[in-house]
Amino acid sequence: RYEDQVKVLLDQMTTVEKLGQLQQLTWTGDTGPGGGQTAHIEAAARAGLLGSVLNIHGAAHTNALQRIAVEESRLGIPLLFGLDVIHGFWTTFPIPLAQAASFDPEVARRDAEVSAAETRSNGVRWTFSPMMDVTHEPRWGRIAEGCGEDPYVNAAFAVAKIRGYQGADDGSELTDGERIAACAKHFVAYGGAEGGRDYNTVDVSEQRLRNHYLPPFKAAVDAGVATVMAAFNTVAGVPAHGNPHTMNTILKEEWGFDGFVVSDYTGVEELVAHGFAEDGADAARLAFNAGLDMEMVSTNVTEHGERLVTDGLIGESRLDDAVTRILRLKFALGLFDQPYTDEAAEITGPTPAARETARAAGARSMVLIKNDDGVLPLERTTPSIAVVGPLANSTDLHGTWAGPGGFQLPSVSILDAVRTAAPGARVTHAGDDVAAAVAAAQEAEVTVVVVGEPPALSGEAAVRSDIALPRGQEELIAAVAATGKPYAVVLLNGRPLTIGGWLDAAPAVLEAWHPGIEAGHAVADVLFGRVNPGGKLPVTFPRAVGQIPVYYNHENTGRPAHVPGADPKFVSKYLDLDETPQLPFGHGLSYTTFTTGAPELRREEITRDELAAGETLEATVTVTNTGDRVGDEVVQLYIHDVAASIAQPVRRLRGFERVTLEPGESTTVRFRLGAEDLGFWTNDPAGTYVVERGRVDIYAGTSSTARARGTVRIL
Ligand code: IFM
Repeated sequence: RYEDQVKVLLDQMTTVEKLGQLQQLTWTGDTGPGGGQTAHIEAAARAGLLGSVLNIHGAAHTNALQRIAVEESRLGIPLLFGLDVIHGFWTTFPIPLAQAASFDPEVARRDAEVSAAETRSNGVRWTFSPMMDVTHEPRWGRIAEGCGEDPYVNAAFAVAKIRGYQGADDGSELTDGERIAACAKHFVAYGGAEGGRDYNTVDVSEQRLRNHYLPPFKAAVDAGVATVMAAFNTVAGVPAHGNPHTMNTILKEEWGFDGFVVSDYTGVEELVAHGFAEDGADAARLAFNAGLDMEMVSTNVTEHGERLVTDGLIGESRLDDAVTRILRLKFALGLFDQPYTDEAAEITGPTPAARETARAAGARSMVLIKNDDGVLPLERTTPSIAVVGPLANSTDLHGTWAGPGGFQLPSVSILDAVRTAAPGARVTHAGDDVAAAVAAAQEAEVTVVVVGEPPALSGEAAVRSDIALPRGQEELIAAVAATGKPYAVVLLNGRPLTIGGWLDAAPAVLEAWHPGIEAGHAVADVLFGRVNPGGKLPVTFPRAVGQIPVYYNHENTGRPAHVPGADPKFVSKYLDLDETPQLPFGHGLSYTTFTTGAPELRREEITRDELAAGETLEATVTVTNTGDRVGDEVVQLYIHDVAASIAQPVRRLRGFERVTLEPGESTTVRFRLGAEDLGFWTNDPAGTYVVERGRVDIYAGTSSTARARGTVRIL
């Protein structure tokens, strides 16, 4: 589509104008160094030498700049405005990691729909989201922005978000007034940063790349994602911004991606610091020949492109291809027909309906880690409640990479929300003063201890080497515990934390993440049982930093620990730490109880030919609410290929479904496993996917430690 219109335009463009389309400049410096200077942006737009601008929003602002490009430049090509709308524009939803904990991709789709409408009405038609960087690194601050450690979960949420932003997979709804283009990022393996240090080296085998990091991107491309953003890291020694294997070969040739690849902020320039390019010209040559199409912020391609093209170092056809990809999206978004935004219809703040959706998303994303003695839910009629801790009265609970709403609007504090939820109760408050918190706890029937990380401790370049609660918070919990009165801990954080020091003693722990603009209400909904928590951890919680990486889908090793009869000395373990995680992937409780049966398989065998022909293996799992409240359970299906030509993970999630059941109610969840579930990618750089003969164990349950097993043999 749009090939004819693009061609007509392309034929009229000079080389310099074409290069201009490959340039994106930043209006403000919100998201990286530089920015804040706008005169050169207006000049570039006027000269027709600019394709896109990031970090600008507001209908009037974008219209003013757009008018320059459309009405004053020679060809009148509209600008494409982009912004990081990661979990909300005005209405901040829970951070993406939290959304993943809902195990309900609908949560992500609704966020994306609300975000798209708000963003689009502010003149911005492109978001740099969703982020789908699978990671095993809780130290990495950007773990908050993705969907955790599992490729399947990341893929499911990426697809849901893309559909929420863009609408139909074929892009036909992009011109609707409430849709925006999405961006799959960061391509690729950014989550593998050594030591969790942002931007750090990533060395991956081809099979790890393809089985682990690439699947969410492939799913995103299949869902029609309009753009892809390159990652800051190296991939097996080659920076992602100059990596022809990942961008040209896999993304564009193998997957047939026809959108465009944008660099990350100054990522092209950084090829020099990586020691990959000699200078800016070399960086432009390497990046664009490797498949990059648009340069964000740094200006190497516009500075050196003409000479590179004249010298034959960037081919004319490569240049035309990149411009075509960019213009195609501008046409698909309807920018040529409607370059401006209706200023009268601009959404200028969260609507009540959007707030309601965000509140429901926040509550649906929470994970009940522990609840001994039924401390939770709290009774609304409790006469006195103490709400203590450094984050109890915080209105900064939007989480990292919040949009304009996060900068300009307060989130609802937990203290305020508890007061609203229990209007008859005497609600007292103490911050991080231990003596005051203890005094409040002693006076109260029950105490809610609100601890965790302020949002600035996670996100880009927010890496921690110690992921315990920040200083003083464990002491605060211990002091409240010492009162002997009942208490519940509410955790607000953007990453897994090491919580072993106080977890055993705490009667109840609710993982609330950073829940967004309606944070307090969402937390109170769960604390008081208006919402029965049903989220699950999308990441493993380690016992200690020294145990990282610890993740559920690891390989077995030749000497796994805990094998009956094995010599306990020479096994893969730590001398000073249990090698199992503190909390496993998939864990989460409810105010009711459930039982799940073993997976029932329709067949004991299936042939590779049948799988290749599209047949699937059906596995059914029956789940029953055995408690006395309506509640949600997430039924999870894992596989393990017992013997394969490449060692396989001990568990691999291949299906999940969140169900709501009345007390005593049962339901049967149906999963279908096909070739795409039962095989894996080999180390062949050309991309070979195999389904091998042999036994595959299939586990079902309510966390990655599920033991109920069925077995199938692939013939
Ligand atoms: O989209 C972001 C990216 O994730 C990190 N660097 C800056 C970009 C644009 O703001």
